[in-house]
This record gives sequence, C-alpha cells and structure tokens, in this order.
Amino acid sequence: MIETPKGVRIAGIGSATPSKVISNRDLEKILDTSDEWIKSRTGISERRVVEPSEDSLEISVKACQKALGNTDPNEIDLIVVATSTPDFLYPSTACRVQAALKANRAAAFDLSAACTGFIFSLVTAAQFLQLGTYRKALVLGVDIHSRFLDWTDRSTSILFGDGAGAVLIEQTSFEENQLLSHSIHSDGSGGCDLSLKNVSGGYPSGKLNKQTENVQMNGRKIYQFAVTTIPKAIEETATMAGHKPEDINYLICHQANQRILDSVAEKMNWPKEKCISNISKYGNTSAASIPLAWDESYKSFQNGDLISLAGFGAGLTWGSLIWKWKEFN
Ligand code: ACO
Repeated sequence: MIETPKGVRIAGIGSATPSKVISNRDLEKILDTSDEWIKSRTGISERRVVEPSEDSLEISVKACQKALGNTDPNEIDLIVVATSTPDFLYPSTACRVQAALKANRAAAFDLSAACTGFIFSLVTAAQFLQLGTYRKALVLGVDIHSRFLDWTDRSTSILFGDGAGAVLIEQTSFEENQLLSHSIHSDGSGGCDLSLKNVSGGYPSGKLNKQTENVQMNGRKIYQFAVTTIPKAIEETATMAGHKPEDINYLICHQANQRILDSVAEKMNWPKEKCISNISKYGNTSAASIPLAWDESYKSFQNGDLISLAGFGAGLTWGSLIWKWKEFN
C-alpha cells in the first residue's frame, strides 16, 4: 500500500578517480594539438584514465564506500548506476557493485542516459524513497570513456576522462524533504549528434574485431544544445520549486567545457563562481562529472543553500533538479 509521500535527504557523497594522469602536454606528443588550444577551448588541463589492468569497478566501489561512510551496506535497498561505458553488457555494473559492497538486500540496475545519467538516476531512485517503497538508495555515476575513444582523433580524445561519483539518499519525513523539484527530458531525434555504436550485431556476416566503435560527436551542435537547454532547465526547476533562478546559491552542471559553464552563468546573469567547476583536473567524466564536482564542493555549502544540479548529453537528454542543502554526518 502506498502511504503519504515521504521526503528525501542526502546522507553521503563520495567520488574516486584513477591514479594515472594524462596532461595536455602528454597529448601534444601523440596528437596535432596544443596545451594552449585545449585549455582555451575547453578549460581542461589534465584527465585521469584507468590502467589496462583496471576497469570501472575499482573506482565505483571506492566512490560508493566513501558515500556510505559508516552505513552498513546491508541497509541499502536500491543501487542505481548511471553508466554508458560498462565493463560488461551483463551483468550490470550495479549488480557487480552490489556484490563488491556486499549490499545483499539491494535491488540493483543500470540506467543509460549518457552524461545526463546521474540526473536521471537520482530522480529515479528518489521516486522509490518518496513513495515509501525504499528507505536507502545508492546512486552512482561512473564512466571510463578512455576505453571508447579513438586516441588519434583530436576532436574527441582531448575531452574525456574517467571517474566515479556516488550519493547515498535516505527517506525522511515530508517536512524535511530536500529534493525540491526535478525535470528530465529527451529528444531522440538528436541521437546522431553524439553516439557510441555497439557493433557486435554484425557477427557472423562481418568480422568482429571489437565490440564498439568510437565516440562520434558533432561538437558545435552539442555545444549549442547545451547552452540553450541548460538555462531553460534551471529556470524550469527553480519555478517548480517556488523560487527564482537568482535564489540558487550554486550550480553543479555537467562538466563538459568551461566555456559552456561560463555561457550558462552569463545567460543566468550569475557570477561565474556560482557554477562549480573542476573540469581543469578531470575533463568530461560523463555520468560521474556531477557527483564528482558535488563531492569536491559540498563542504563549502551552508545549510539552506539552494543547489541546482543540471546535466546534458547523448540521447539527446537533459535535466535538472534542485536540493535544499543540509549538512549530513
Ligand atoms: N587541437 C587543435 N585543434 C583542434 C582540436 C584540437 N584538439 N580539435 C579541433 N581542432 C581544430 C578544428 O580542426 C578546427 O580547425 P579548422 O578551423 O581549421 O577547421 C578548429 O580547431 C575549430 O574546431 P571546432 O570544432 O569548431 O572547435 P570548437 O571551438 O567548437 O571546440 C569542442 C570544439 C571543444 C569539441 C566544442 O565544440 C565543445 O565543447 N562541444 C561540446 C562537447 C560536449 O559538450 N560534449 C558532451 C559530451 S557528453 C556525453 O553525453 C558523452
């Protein structure tokens, strides 16, 4: 039986990145590019990538353990993982994380919405808590695009890095609800502008050398898409929450390009500092970028601050949500 709607609160945040660093100077040695071009066009200085012996599970587990803190993994009811670069098509990354954490009671599944995956996953997991179905959910965003790039293509390989970020959300009373509003959107007609094709279906008529092609992207179209949809999505969720965009204290936007973050700030008439940025160190970590930036910034938030999260990416997909910040233990 569904009871009165409940609230959702943040109970933990964590992130992890691989230790191997590739700087712009390293890329200058293998590509016709320059540190100056990459920094001025994207804001990226370096990115982290997994070693050949690693996969996405190590950083996923580290991020989740940090988000869990002292919480017993057996208390988790649900694990939702946003990823578009899973190590296996099945089992899901969520099931592998569940086993590694020994979160034996949790239902676990992956959700695919590319760089907006963390927003879609957080909204999805929150519904289970707000309806009263579950009490604790772990939401993870993880991507290792380094495995899916053509490292000779300077238009895509300079942009991405690997990473993982997680939040633990808990059911709370309706009065203590921190998730004020959310909105998610899709436009499949733009799918061709950013894609990563799984080509295994060609077997046995064609020779199967590898499972996927590389990332294909119309950079200018995605840039335009981002700078028009993100301000609208922020305004939409601010209005739904009964606030004005200027009431928002911080924006944690998908970290794809510093110029996109600066353009959003300009369109919102905000100082640039309102838009949290760590793109310089990590590049675009896709589904991990929002929780990774959140983990690195939340200690400067004050109780009662309005935090907007906003994502955009392949699909095309985009979305936003607003939290009323409250410190957690
Ligand atoms: N180094 C040097 N020169 C380069 C590089 C490079 N790495 N890459 C491209 N160039 C050149 C191009 O060849 C072009 O040269 P030309 O004028 O002689 O033809 C010139 O630089 C300009 O290229 P543009 O593509 O027009 O550069 P732009 O300023 O648009 O920047 C970029 C490209 C950084 C990709 C930008 O378009 C962008 O950030 N787009 C959004 C990407 C994005 O957000 N992706 C989201 C992915 S999320 C997900 O869901 C996976």
